[in-house]
Amino acid sequence: MVEKLKENQKKKILQVYEAVSTKYAQVRERSKDKLPSMAKNGVHDDRSDLNQSWKIDDGLNWWTNGFFAGILWQLYQAEKEERYAQIARLSEEKLDACFSSYYGLHHDVGFMWIPTAVADYRLTGNQESRKRALLAANLLAGRFNPVGNYIRAWNDLDKSAESNKGWAIIDCMFNIPLLYWASKEIHDPRYRHIAMRHADTAMTYFIRENGSVRHIIEFDADTGEYLCSHGGQGYGHGSSWSRGQAWALYGFTISYLHTGKEEYLETAKRVADYFQSRLTESYLVPIDFDQPKEPSLEDSTAAAIAACGYLELAALMEKNKQGENYFQIGIKLFETLTEKRCDFSKETDGLVLKCSGSYHGLHDREVNFIYADYFYVEALLKLIGKRWMIF
Ligand code: GLY
Repeated sequence: MVEKLKENQKKKILQVYEAVSTKYAQVRERSKDKLPSMAKNGVHDDRSDLNQSWKIDDGLNWWTNGFFAGILWQLYQAEKEERYAQIARLSEEKLDACFSSYYGLHHDVGFMWIPTAVADYRLTGNQESRKRALLAANLLAGRFNPVGNYIRAWNDLDKSAESNKGWAIIDCMFNIPLLYWASKEIHDPRYRHIAMRHADTAMTYFIRENGSVRHIIEFDADTGEYLCSHGGQGYGHGSSWSRGQAWALYGFTISYLHTGKEEYLETAKRVADYFQSRLTESYLVPIDFDQPKEPSLEDSTAAAIAACGYLELAALMEKNKQGENYFQIGIKLFETLTEKRCDFSKETDGLVLKCSGSYHGLHDREVNFIYADYFYVEALLKLIGKRWMIF
C-alpha cells in the first residue's frame, strides 16, 4: 500500500503516525485502568463495572470493551514497546469476569476477545489468552442455529422485550473471525463451518440487489424460514445504515482473507461499489445513506471501518483499475478523517470525532467512540507499512 502513495502523502501520513503515537503514549497511561468506550469532554469513560446499568450488557459486557486493547496491541506490534502489552493485558484480565457472569454475553464475544485475547496470544504466545479466546469461540459457536444457518445476535433476557431469538445482524461478520481463528488454532473445522454457513446466510439475506445492506434479519428460529428485516440502528426499514454497510464491506473482505471463497470477495466488492455510489464530494459519511438531508448527521466510525475495507480490497486486486479506485476511496476517507475529524491533542483521550451509535439514539450522536479510533489506527498502520490484521 505504501508504494502507491505520493511522496507528499507519505510525509503527511508519517506525521500523522508520529502524532498518534505521541498521543497514545499519554492516553495509555491516563486510561490504563479503564475500559473506555468513548471520550466525553476529552476524557475516557470506563465500562469496567459489571453492573453499570440496568442492562447486563452495558457495563463490563459492553461490546466495544476489546477496542482499547486492540489499539494498544496494534501499536505494540508496530513499536515493540512492552508498556503497550502490559496495559492491553489489563483489559483482557478484566473481561474474565464476563465469563462467569455469562448472562450479558451474546454474539459480540468476537469484538470483545479478538482484539484482546486472540491478539495477545498471536503476538506473545500467552497461554491464558489462548484459553480465553477458545472459550469465547465456543460461546459464539453455541449461538449457531442449524436450521436457519445463522448465529443468533442478542439475547432477550429482559422478558418485556420483543423476542429476538431468530435475529441475525450484519455486524456479526466481525465476530466470526474468532471462529476462523479457533478452527486453525485447534485444527477443528467445525468452527470454520459455522462461520461460513453464517457468512453464506448473510450473503443471501442481508445484501440487496443494488449492493446495499440490511441491518437485522429475522428468521423463524424453529424452522429457519426467513420472516422479515428490521431497520435496526439505521434511519428506518429499507434504509442503508452506513456502519452496517461498512461492517459488510470489510467483513466479507475479511471472510475472503480467511477462507479464499470467491463469493465473499465479490460480495465485498458489490457493497464497496454501493458505498462509493453514495459518497458525496465531502467524503464525510452520514449515519444512514437514506437519512433526510437535515440535520446532516455523521458517523465517522463507518468512514474508518470502510477505509480499512477499501485498502484491503485494493491490496487484493493490486494493479488493476478497480483496485486503484478502491485505494483512492480508502485514502480519501482516511485523509478526510485526518483533516476534518481527528483530535491529535495529547491532552484529550479521544481521537476520531463525530461518531454515532445509531440514527435515532439521541444520546450518542456525533461523539467519540473507541472503535472509530481503533479502525483509524488500523488504517494508519496499513498506510505506513505496519499492517497487522487483528480480525
Ligand atoms: N455492533 C454494534 C454497532 O455497530 O453499533
